[in-house]
Amino acid sequence: MIVKTLDAKNSILNKFIAEIRDVTIQKDSMRFRKNIERIGEILAYEISQSLVYENKVVTTPLGTKIVSIPKSDIVLCSILRAGLPLHNGLLNYFDDAENAFISAYRNHINETEFEIKVEYFASPNLDGKTLILADPMLATGQSIVSVYEGLKKHGTPKEIILACVIGSNEGIKLLEKQFPSSTKLWIATVDNKLNDKGYIVPGLGDAGDLAFGEKL
Ligand code: URA
Repeated sequence: MIVKTLDAKNSILNKFIAEIRDVTIQKDSMRFRKNIERIGEILAYEISQSLVYENKVVTTPLGTKIVSIPKSDIVLCSILRAGLPLHNGLLNYFDDAENAFISAYRNHINETEFEIKVEYFASPNLDGKTLILADPMLATGQSIVSVYEGLKKHGTPKEIILACVIGSNEGIKLLEKQFPSSTKLWIATVDNKLNDKGYIVPGLGDAGDLAFGEKL
């Protein structure tokens, strides 16, 4: 798997990451969602550089110009519900993508153990397409792997791209084992610890709750 981590280079991205982590700024859920969306846009821009391009003739009021534009058929797949703001950001740039939505949640067996339950599943056919699988928090990696297993019955994509905001080294290791070696992971930043509940440390807390409020 090819891993591209974006925060190594100084850019405005690092301000957005700092804000989503900051306990004080997190109180503003609209800013939290907006920052995740902005990170999605930056990820989309970076991913766009790895797509296949083709020339197209554009007619302006004064003449014509040959431009090189992405030719990939993209399917953008996100995991409900935490993935929605990241999905919006990616879709702002890949505006003609098809979309897939899958629900995955942690069903806790006890305080520290959980299994991933995948229930709602809505995906177009994936044959020959570029699948962008997005998950804001790559913690253990089990959710994204479970979703990928479910997606296999919807066809074989030409390429798989993973888009994440905050990840853990443990999660990246699992993806390296479970996804084809040609898979590309674009990730804004990586932390090196998970706590005993499988949350990323320092991470940011629960992305779904911060975006949409606490659940029962
Ligand atoms: N999901 C979250 O929202 N946060 C984590 O740290 C891990 C999974």
